[in-house]
Amino acid sequence: MEILKGKTFVITGASKGIGRALAETLSLLNTNLVLIARSESALVLVQQIAIANGSKCVIFCGDITNEHFVNESIKQAQLQFGQINVLINNAGFGIFKEAEEISGAEWDDVFATNTKGTFLLSKAVIPFMKAQQAGHIINVASDVAKRVFSGGSLYCASKYAQDAFSMAIRKELRPFKVKVSVVYSGLVDSSFHAEPQGDKTHDQWLKNEDMANAIVYIAAQPPHVVIDELMIHPTFQDY
Ligand SMILES: NC(=O)c1ccc[n+]([C@@H]2O[C@H](COP(=O)([O-])OP(=O)(O)OC[C@H]3O[C@@H](n4cnc5c(N)ncnc54)[C@H](OP(=O)(O)O)[C@@H]3O)[C@@H](O)[C@H]2O)c1
Repeated sequence: MEILKGKTFVITGASKGIGRALAETLSLLNTNLVLIARSESALVLVQQIAIANGSKCVIFCGDITNEHFVNESIKQAQLQFGQINVLINNAGFGIFKEAEEISGAEWDDVFATNTKGTFLLSKAVIPFMKAQQAGHIINVASDVAKRVFSGGSLYCASKYAQDAFSMAIRKELRPFKVKVSVVYSGLVDSSFHAEPQGDKTHDQWLKNEDMANAIVYIAAQPPHVVIDELMIHPTFQDY
């Protein structure tokens, strides 16, 4: 994976689940890592692992729905490493209820993280990537950015919106040689679900490491290749 050596990756939601697995995988490849999440102690632990694995790593603890926090984090990261090569918009969560039971505040919270968070981080890195005439934004959506299910109106809507945003900025950024990729995944055994990670009911699900490997594959393509979309499922899951 020589192509990723020395590259700077910003990963949101790096304290656990897919984002943590991705940070740990990338840390074995001599990268510079910028890790973002709210849980400081969990993020410090991932940072320690990343540094022990031989990568440089800075962390920013805060909420990606906060525009000031996002802008300051990206500014500091750019100063620290001199460039930002890849942004992975991974932080996200879901609330699963029938529409009539969803409160206005719950609606705002899910959209603020899944959709506005993706927008804020992207907006913050785009000027640097345009100036570099290179860069890559990889958004972790879900297969429910392309299908819906009962009880999923809020989460699906947030992921459809994140996907639409991604498709539009792909058009805006292509002339500047900035890639935009979206990962649509099925069930992953992370902390995302009601049951804990490692629960027996998750036995056949994707592992966080499967997602990390898929994202690294997307990021590791040469400059003339872009994987616009990647759909990934556990073999058992119907789609
Ligand atoms: N698990 C699945 O089956 C599945 C399937 C398809 C798509 N996805 C998507 O995959 C992505 C990662 O989820 P996961 O499965 O790894 O879930 P997870 O284990 O719950 O991890 C979510 C991460 O997002 C961070 N986060 C959440 N809200 C945040 C906020 N407002 N500001 C900053 N960080 C925030 C969390 O950290 P803190 O709590 O420390 O802030 C955590 O690091 C999400 O976008 C999810 O929608 C998951």
